[in-house]
Amino acid sequence: MMSHATFRQLEVFEAIARLGSFTRASEELHLTQPTVSMQMKKLADTVGLPLFEHVGRRIHLTEAGKELAITAREIMQSLERCDMSIAEMRGLKKGKLRLAVVSTAKYFVPRILGEFSRLHPGVEVALKVTNRQRVLERAAENLDDLYILSQPASHLELAAQPFMENPLVVMAPPEHPLTQQRNISLHSIAREPFLMREIGSGTRLTVEQIFASQGLKPNIRMELGSNEAIKQAIIGGLGISILSRHTLGTDGMGEPAVLDVAGFPIVNQWHIGHPNGKQLSIVAEAFLDYLLKRTMKQPPQEHQ
Ligand code: PGA
Repeated sequence: MMSHATFRQLEVFEAIARLGSFTRASEELHLTQPTVSMQMKKLADTVGLPLFEHVGRRIHLTEAGKELAITAREIMQSLERCDMSIAEMRGLKKGKLRLAVVSTAKYFVPRILGEFSRLHPGVEVALKVTNRQRVLERAAENLDDLYILSQPASHLELAAQPFMENPLVVMAPPEHPLTQQRNISLHSIAREPFLMREIGSGTRLTVEQIFASQGLKPNIRMELGSNEAIKQAIIGGLGISILSRHTLGTDGMGEPAVLDVAGFPIVNQWHIGHPNGKQLSIVAEAFLDYLLKRTMKQPPQEHQ
């Protein structure tokens, strides 16, 4: 039955599933709204089940819709890979690279991407920056070519390899009394008002594990949704936090102090991965290869 669906219908459906909107899909594909609606009606008739639920103005995929979205995406991606292979045969080296990285990786990934793009000017890059939870969801939905995060989830079938260290340090306001002490215990840190990343953040997960490993809990004063907000709150005297050292030295507007805490820095590894069994495009292979060689030779410069 599904073989009666046309390629155009699947293309329209994939765009709606990805963009969450009929209007945006019609804009992206340069089609009129009635054409898009008509194509989706025909597709739902072929499938024999509704593909969308309209809740208010929002569109949600039904179970059948989700299933079809995965297949539609695989078909689009195979065609893109085929396009790229043919381009490669012509020696063009052109294509698309879709990367999704956790927010803490945004301090070094764009620099590496810049170098890669200079080597391959024909490659169009899309970089999605979001928190760990969302990166894992994107991987499960097969939305991108490659994913960068520091703790790959054990439940998700992600073929991931480490490529660089991610050191986590304890940060405090520059005038904080603990800046005068050496070898501070985690007990003392647990007593301080703590600024915590949002649920879904990989940094938060590591921080919780660090405290739990010593039977402690941070004294959470406030939850903030980004590394930058936490740094500014530390400088503003609202509390202390544990963040990746990569976040330091980026805004040139004053920096938190790094405390000398026993056992720190805690060193995680950055991983790059893709869902197991996913066939990488030529461009994604080239980027993976570049990143691994590049970071083995010399990690991207940190500012400090
Ligand atoms: P986050 O992830 O930016 O979601 O905190 C960081 C990490 O994976 O270590």
